[in-house]
Amino acid sequence: MKIRIPASSANLGPGFDSFGIAWQLYNEIEFEALPQGLRIEGCEERFQNENNLALRAFSHTLKKFGVKQKGTLIRFVNSDIPVSRGLGSSAALIAAGVKAADALYGLGLGPGVLLNLATEVEGHPDNVAPALFGGMTVSLLEGKRALTRRFNVHEKLRFTLLIPPFELSTALSRSVMPKEVSMHDAVFNLSRAALLPHALETGDHELLRVCLQDRLHQPYRRSLIDGMEQAERLSEEAGCIGLCLSGAGSTLLCIGNVSEQSALLAEKAKKCLPGWIVREAVPDLTGAVIVGSF
Ligand code: HSE
Repeated sequence: MKIRIPASSANLGPGFDSFGIAWQLYNEIEFEALPQGLRIEGCEERFQNENNLALRAFSHTLKKFGVKQKGTLIRFVNSDIPVSRGLGSSAALIAAGVKAADALYGLGLGPGVLLNLATEVEGHPDNVAPALFGGMTVSLLEGKRALTRRFNVHEKLRFTLLIPPFELSTALSRSVMPKEVSMHDAVFNLSRAALLPHALETGDHELLRVCLQDRLHQPYRRSLIDGMEQAERLSEEAGCIGLCLSGAGSTLLCIGNVSEQSALLAEKAKKCLPGWIVREAVPDLTGAVIVGSF
């Protein structure tokens, strides 16, 4: 069976480890039960082993439900989600593995269980929720239980991904953050995060500009992104409403309401952000889906 899973951007400014949005940018992975053995094909050799996240999520799900795993074939058919760029490539593999185990072995798992399983492997639900269900999601953890809800995004809003030519590991990007924050910064973020879903839903320009501000992670991470200042300048010149890190970076996400935004940014980026890929991102509303079986 073949599963298609979307890329996603976590955080969206102030919603650290909680907010996420899925994009129409996909990986497609085939899963097949074999009589025995393990085969992983179609990805770089460094991922063809037992640490492969799609396999880990697949095995985790079967183990949790006491299903004896036969042999498994995992074939990466399309891998359009850039790796280590803050676009949820790990979450996409995990969502695929959980969904495939459920479908291939007929477990009949509901959305809440799928989310918990994926969160157990990923550690936090912000990317796996949109990867599984699509749309813009806000998620929380109560102990080990993940809860998520979807919010609408105004159709006039435009999203552009500025994807740098360099990788940034989530571990490194998390390591530069402080262990504790001030009450002032906590209130700064919680008030903006609370109103961000409303701003995205209504496309309220002024509210959105303020609600994309963050003091919990971006101020510490910006030094890891060579080109951040140029990107901020471009975003302003192109008339975008705001710019934030996509997940832990290195990709930046521009949000605006001008229809030619992505083309404008792409044109400007040629000069001052050489090697960066600029592409429009359209929200995905379906999440992980089975697109074929054999
Ligand atoms: N919320 C996570 C972070 C996303 O910003 O570190 C990456 O997994």
